[in-house]
Amino acid sequence: MREWAFQRCIMPQCRATVDLGETTFRCPRCGSLLDVDYEWERLPLPQSLSAWEGAWSRRREPLDFSGVWRFRALFPFASEGHVVTIGEGQTLCLRSDPVATYVGLRPGRLYLQYEGLNPSGSFKDNGMTAAFTHARMTGAKRAACASTGNTSASLALYCAASGLMRGIIFIGSGKISYGKLSQALEHGALTIQIAGDFDDALRQVQEIARQLGIYLVNSINPFRLEGQKTIMYRVLESLHWQPPDWIVVPGGNLGNVSSFGKAFGELQQLSLLSRPPRLAVINAQGANTFYELYERRGLRWNGGRYDPQVIQIYLKELDAAARRADTLASAIEIHRPVNLPKALRALEICGGVVREVSDQEILDAKAQVGAGGLGCEPASAATVAGLRRLVAEGVIQPEETVVCILTGHVLKDPDATVAYHTDDRALFDQKLGRRGVKRATYANRAVQVPNDLAEIIKAIELYA
Ligand code: F0G
Repeated sequence: MREWAFQRCIMPQCRATVDLGETTFRCPRCGSLLDVDYEWERLPLPQSLSAWEGAWSRRREPLDFSGVWRFRALFPFASEGHVVTIGEGQTLCLRSDPVATYVGLRPGRLYLQYEGLNPSGSFKDNGMTAAFTHARMTGAKRAACASTGNTSASLALYCAASGLMRGIIFIGSGKISYGKLSQALEHGALTIQIAGDFDDALRQVQEIARQLGIYLVNSINPFRLEGQKTIMYRVLESLHWQPPDWIVVPGGNLGNVSSFGKAFGELQQLSLLSRPPRLAVINAQGANTFYELYERRGLRWNGGRYDPQVIQIYLKELDAAARRADTLASAIEIHRPVNLPKALRALEICGGVVREVSDQEILDAKAQVGAGGLGCEPASAATVAGLRRLVAEGVIQPEETVVCILTGHVLKDPDATVAYHTDDRALFDQKLGRRGVKRATYANRAVQVPNDLAEIIKAIELYA
């Protein structure tokens, strides 16, 4: 254990500290969320962010190869011998002019941070390597999560690749896309489908983890969020350590936005960054708790004096109306985001906005991302759809520099993609129409031809 690292309650009026090895992930005094915190003054840190460029020359070392662990000086809770890495975080921040044009930004102003390149195909590996390492430090033999799919795929992969732990995953029945379910099954995780949705599964898994002493890897686990900070370090690195004006991120359980806010807050505290980017969090309309609370009901972190009643009242309203989260972007189909207070804090640190987008906007944006040469799943495309709205509203200016986080790979959810591009109206209606999607403006339809050489050649000459 590292004596300069510990866990600490996020509430400024509490600030209780918790031992690094504790795995309940709730403040024992007030029940709030915990941060991983460090006595930075005891740690040697470089004078500038560009010092990290040197790590690449040592990339034969697994810890310096990892796009997460090469930044370990900025989350120093583990000794090197404990680290479990499978080469995560080799991701790219790519300029995309076609998508810039789609959203109304000038060419050269939009970058897509492609986290689908991770070993399990989503950003979750950034956090999983950190949580898994902590689990190993505590001697855990079983690890569990509730998931809309990507966390479970990532956990299953780390369990299989390391052979260190048995993975147990909880998913809502019928609530997970096939790409993700297939990963959990293929990698041998114990997969429990409960008759409910993600919000139900998360409630159950927390209790089960407590009762059975199973290590929990959901983003309530603050070690996960330490790993996810590195997404921002890699964005900064790609932009030559110049922060963009905006980071746009999908909002589900609000782990990413929370970790991004913490990353930027710490970089400022350590005098490694003078100005943080602003954060835009994009909810799906059918799972818009954060949008509702932040933009409509005015909920703010307020230095830690946020009003929890505003949240309770809203969640009671959802229950009274029997409203369940409902969106095609199944990864973010969440009504009760567990990291809500941390997300409020992140928006206070960075400044920012929350928006909601419809499934129609999400699928159109997804097709534009694909046509521009990168493939992402629906939840990821919410960023591009949200950015388009923010440019149209004049909140983001055409000449500002923006990075959208593409959180998961296009192959995660092939059903949504095929249903969008199909000319089979019944399939379209069954998968998308019932969710309010009316058009597939950017569909690339398959061409039907007879099994005849001349006809096939005719079709090619006609269309290509
Ligand atoms: N994008 C994708 C592809 C996701 O899988 C998730 C979350 C999010 C965005 C939202 O991120 O929770 O940090 O706001 N997926 C979780 C899961 C809930 O179980 O895989 P967040």
